[in-house]
Amino acid sequence: MQLVAAERPTVLPCFSGLALPMWTLSDTTWLPTIRLNLGDQLDVVLENHLPRAGEHTSLHWHGIRLPNDQDGVPYLVQPPVLPGERFRYSFVPPDTGTFFFHTHCNTAEQLGRGLAGVLIVDGDTAEPYAADETIYLRDWLVDFDNGGFRNFFTTRGASRAGTYGNVRSANGYDEAEVRLPASSDCRLRLINGDPTRVMEVAIADTDAAVIAIDGVAVPPFALESWLLAPAMRLDLAVRAPAPGATATLVDRRLPGEVRLARLIGIGPARPSAPFDPAPLRAGRIPEPDLASAERLSFVFAAGAGDQPVLSIEDSPDGFFIGSLCLSAESYWTINNKVWPEGERAALPPPLAILRRGGSYAFSLRNADQLMHPIHIHGHTFKVLRSDRRRLPVHHADTVLLLPDETIEVAFVADNPGRWMFHCHVIEHQKTGMMGYVEVV
Ligand code: C2O
Ligand code: CU
Repeated sequence: MQLVAAERPTVLPCFSGLALPMWTLSDTTWLPTIRLNLGDQLDVVLENHLPRAGEHTSLHWHGIRLPNDQDGVPYLVQPPVLPGERFRYSFVPPDTGTFFFHTHCNTAEQLGRGLAGVLIVDGDTAEPYAADETIYLRDWLVDFDNGGFRNFFTTRGASRAGTYGNVRSANGYDEAEVRLPASSDCRLRLINGDPTRVMEVAIADTDAAVIAIDGVAVPPFALESWLLAPAMRLDLAVRAPAPGATATLVDRRLPGEVRLARLIGIGPARPSAPFDPAPLRAGRIPEPDLASAERLSFVFAAGAGDQPVLSIEDSPDGFFIGSLCLSAESYWTINNKVWPEGERAALPPPLAILRRGGSYAFSLRNADQLMHPIHIHGHTFKVLRSDRRRLPVHHADTVLLLPDETIEVAFVADNPGRWMFHCHVIEHQKTGMMGYVEVV
């Protein structure tokens, strides 16, 4: 498959008739979906036709435990793909589930303009669902006065909770319409593809259960609501409404619930048993040995209030500093460090060096009053506990830290290489809350 990153003026249904200068990967759809069976090879040639000189790109396969040189982080694991160049990704995803992919430099703008896609690896259903639908949730920064996008990166946003979009969307619609075979049990794959917004998703007017988090099966539990931060995925089993009836996917994070998608029951009524969704097949994430695990702590915090910890006027790479695609301003720290320290053009040292095959327990502490979804590349955490709320034991590649919350995770460092470890609020990532661990 070929994906060509280019500017394509696009009228998404949520753009109120405006054609916006989106950057997308395909001529036929703004959101390409790659769907494989477990064991299949993913083969993608990325070609960069972006319209700005020097605007390099790459593809990161978020959540996939892949070989390091396929991970798509420019400078860290591959050369940046410059305009006119191409890069081939080829690997076999080792896990089933719901994933997405996005670029990994100048991400506030590149993702802000749309550069992303959906990756689904099938093979986890023991009993098939009557339907299997993906709902990709994100905002857009639309400048209705001038018919373009607003600034993707703002100092105010970067130093606070991020720059929120002014147009919400589900699959490109203000409110998506998802037609489901009436009264059957269906699978919904929710993806938060937004650079900034933490949502609290819930389903009104029908039964719903969580069946997978970040692609990995959990024993089904009833969905009350779930905090879905940027880059997190949630697979639900829902009982489709009766013929002609509707249920609603909503975001309850802010007062005044936002409707994201309407689920409509279609076709004949069918007799239905009580809602008791079948579990998915268990994931294949290696089990860490907690008794022998080495413990490391990571503290995620603000730098010096509203003042940038570091401010560099001229970055060698335009607005973003070359080596880790950082912005010239830093507001955020991991373990008290702004990344990279000192010589910013060179690769900084890793946050930690991990022994290949070793079990590790990380304590992830948010010493800040904002939320930070913390993502690790190339591995999947087992999320053990929070000191603030009851969480089911589950797996995740992106762990949301609430204000002042500490979450304990563990994993086997079985994938050699340099792996990014960062906040997925993109403006936080780009202004310091980013580093990497090295598995040797
Ligand atoms: Cu979703 Cu470092 O990325
Ligand atoms: Cu953050």
